[in-house]
Amino acid sequence: MMAVLGSAGRLIQFARSSVSLSVRRRSTAAAFAQTPDIQDNRKPKTGILMLNMGGPEKLSDVHDFLRRLFMDTDLIQLPVQKQLGPLIARRRTPKIQEQYSKIGGGSPIKHWTSMQGEGMVKLLDEISPDTAPHKFYIGFRYVHPLTEEAIEEMEKDGVERAVAFTQYPQYSCSTTGSSLNAIYRYYSNRVDSPKMRWSVIDRWPTHPLLVECFAEHVKNELLKFPEDKRDDVVILFSAHSLPMAVVNRGDPYPQEVGATVQRVMERLGHCNPYRLVWQSRVGPMQWLGPQTDDVIKGLCERGKKNILLVPIAFTSDHIETLHELDIEYGQVLGQECGVENIRRAESLNGNPLFMQALADLVNSHLKSNMSCSRQLTLRCPMCTNPTCGETKAFFANQTLS
Ligand code: FES
Repeated sequence: MMAVLGSAGRLIQFARSSVSLSVRRRSTAAAFAQTPDIQDNRKPKTGILMLNMGGPEKLSDVHDFLRRLFMDTDLIQLPVQKQLGPLIARRRTPKIQEQYSKIGGGSPIKHWTSMQGEGMVKLLDEISPDTAPHKFYIGFRYVHPLTEEAIEEMEKDGVERAVAFTQYPQYSCSTTGSSLNAIYRYYSNRVDSPKMRWSVIDRWPTHPLLVECFAEHVKNELLKFPEDKRDDVVILFSAHSLPMAVVNRGDPYPQEVGATVQRVMERLGHCNPYRLVWQSRVGPMQWLGPQTDDVIKGLCERGKKNILLVPIAFTSDHIETLHELDIEYGQVLGQECGVENIRRAESLNGNPLFMQALADLVNSHLKSNMSCSRQLTLRCPMCTNPTCGETKAFFANQTLS
């Protein structure tokens, strides 16, 4: 491995990059350990349900996280899923536990979502007194607090107006679609109809403040490259890939991720060359590419050895940033390829501007009096999941006033 490092200078620079990544991991883990109990006992009028797949907080949560994930038919369809799902989860648990142990022992996503929610509702109480008090709830798909538990809490709190707010800026039926189906199923399994009036913020790929946050984080990280290398940096916007079977049934995600990238590069005045690349492929199926690791290798082979990775489809740190981008690509692969400088833009995490973006999205949504976007009402042209149609009708038919 050391043989591929062409010069001592490069070795030193790479070592510096590695240090910055490990400091980031430690600080994330420390922040995660200090997650405060932040919500007071407010009686909310408006409840905002922040939707995400979530991540295991402790190593002992990894198995249940994987079991729920492999049992989710909205995310993945397996033959004899009831038997095969738990089996795959059991088999994969030790490897995934090892990855989480390398990033501090758990996912920081609940910590960051709580911090973002707290900032968001404080701002909302100020800018939208008519809909106050606001309270945020976290609805994860595969770990506690589960979406169903959060809905129960909202009902118990007597929320009048509920907003299902996806924390994925770009819509995919595998992620946001799965969370919305979970809300629909919660009510379809009960006799009573919802006491709350529901609406949904189902996508926000080009929100100006989101674009501003990404651009700011790219600029900050570019400044950390040696000055004489800065112009040579290739920006790789990296998003979680999808199986081609999902893309080909008409999932809107690839186009929406592309829209975010386009806006961010416009905001940056196209300062550097860039590509949109896709990470986290697993298994033998065909996935959307090019894959992030192949692109890093290809660029290095062609002499482009200064690379900035930008996570563009998640807003908070998670295993795909802290392990896959920072360790697998930033450290191991980068060294193998003889990269000169490889860095990763910070996730939006605790950026106050990002909290403003969230508050602005909810405020404009509440004022719009729309139950969902027009785009949500259209099923994927090749969708075979009847729940998708029922979920879309559930949200589209809500009476808000
Ligand atoms: S899979 Fe996209 S609407 Fe059903």
